[in-house]
Amino acid sequence: MKTALITGANVGIGLATAKVLARRGFNLILLCRNETKGQEAVTAIQRINPAVTVELVIADLTNVDSIRRAAQQVITTHRQLDVLINNAGFSPDRIEFVDNVEKSFYANHIGHFVLTYHLLDLLKASGEARVINLSSAAYALGKAARFFQRNKNLSLMSAYGDGKLANILFTKELAKRYADAGITAFAVHPGVVKSNFGSNFTGTFQVLMSLARPFMRTPERGAETSVYLATAPLSALVKLDGQAGGSGGFFADLNPKLAKHSDNTSKQAADLWAKSLAFI
Ligand SMILES: NC(=O)c1ccc[n+]([C@@H]2O[C@H](COP(=O)([O-])OP(=O)(O)OC[C@H]3O[C@@H](n4cnc5c(N)ncnc54)[C@H](OP(=O)(O)O)[C@@H]3O)[C@@H](O)[C@H]2O)c1
Repeated sequence: MKTALITGANVGIGLATAKVLARRGFNLILLCRNETKGQEAVTAIQRINPAVTVELVIADLTNVDSIRRAAQQVITTHRQLDVLINNAGFSPDRIEFVDNVEKSFYANHIGHFVLTYHLLDLLKASGEARVINLSSAAYALGKAARFFQRNKNLSLMSAYGDGKLANILFTKELAKRYADAGITAFAVHPGVVKSNFGSNFTGTFQVLMSLARPFMRTPERGAETSVYLATAPLSALVKLDGQAGGSGGFFADLNPKLAKHSDNTSKQAADLWAKSLAFI
């Protein structure tokens, strides 16, 4: 039986992903920041398939101490981890800083970097582990030159775009560094999904979200590419070469896509990795 850890699994795309993986026989570890909401998700998922185990670990992705503790809890109770889905994320409604880093960039990238880093030995023990990072088409709004800059005047969309661009660069570097250890990595755009995402928006963003809602996908549809990358035969995923697809690549609608961006380079990916190490 394979084990998958999913962050932000109590709602939205993360919960929908967890439900499908439970149906497919995966044992699950849900990483959530809220105990009550996490327990509700455990109960709902366990009901779908009582034959699998569903565990809860609590961590806030903007608090590295809590992430290290959660990783340690997983390490002491598991021998291997087959799938890690770094799914949690949010788009900010104001610019705030944690350790001098913009808060959504912290949760979307730094928190997941630290979590993944501490789980590397468990992933290696799988022999064929997959790390799936939820990015977004909003990576196009990101700029690597802004990463780690304390800029109070940053626009909200730029802040979100920076984190989602970082997800793509982290995926690329992770795939390169750990290919020999049997770890593959994939970045995902789930589509525009009707979830809790954007429920914190105010003003124009709130109006735009409510106008778009009728045209948005369900969380179940939004989960399809994550589920595909977690379950498809590896040979189907890694035979794809080059920038589009393959380990280190970007996927949407079950297919590899070119993440066209002048900062989507090996140099930027290596630079982001080096700077992120300061937080482990
Ligand atoms: N929805 C879309 O249209 C869309 C489009 C492109 C990409 N995405 C990406 O898809 C992923 C999932 O989004 P979603 O639509 O499912 O969003 P969602 O419904 O808002 O769920 C987000 C999840 O992340 C958790 N989370 C947020 N901040 C956290 C923190 N600091 N520590 C731990 N957990 C935290 C939330 O926990 P709480 O429930 O406790 O708040 C929730 O479980 C995100 O990475 C998002 O950027 C979404």
